[in-house]
Amino acid sequence: MKRIAVCPGSFDPITLGHLDIITRASKLFDEVIVLISKNAGKAQASFTPAERMYLIEKATEGMENVVIDILDGLLADYVRNINAIAIVKGLRAVSDFEYEFQMALANKKLYDGAETVFLTTKSENMYLSSSIVKQIAYFGGDISHFVPECVLEDIKKRLVKENKNYEY
Ligand code: PNS
Repeated sequence: MKRIAVCPGSFDPITLGHLDIITRASKLFDEVIVLISKNAGKAQASFTPAERMYLIEKATEGMENVVIDILDGLLADYVRNINAIAIVKGLRAVSDFEYEFQMALANKKLYDGAETVFLTTKSENMYLSSSIVKQIAYFGGDISHFVPECVLEDIKKRLVKENKNYEY
């Protein structure tokens, strides 16, 4: 039986921190599904689900056991439906812990058949988040150290404040 893991997140947009977690998860499981999910607690996303999918596809090109999907529902239901054995999340700092712990417990209550697995982020990605990337890019700052090189221009063109009408 294939050992499938789901790597859920907003990915708005994908960062080097996300890519690191996806890459490491792909070495631990037979298949990793990067699941673009809705975080009901966050304000309106900057990128549409289709845009986020395009960026993740580009950033994970060549990773044979990584697939991308979009979820408009409960993560626990998705995990159950595809028979995944794990939910993989990246942990940056202590500040992530309480929220992630809460989600892991809630998901376990909703579906007991999968485990949440936390991978500690690389130290250089400790401070990195999609919202930091968006703020820097909006004001024309350099985000080349924060996002995969192959999607750098796409993200810049889309986020810089003078260029709000950019389309893929
Ligand atoms: O990248 P984020 O925003 O921290 O990821 C949070 C996310 C999207 C994984 C979480 O909000 C989620 O699982 N959303 C799907 C809907 C769901 O199942 N919510 C209940 C989680 S306990």
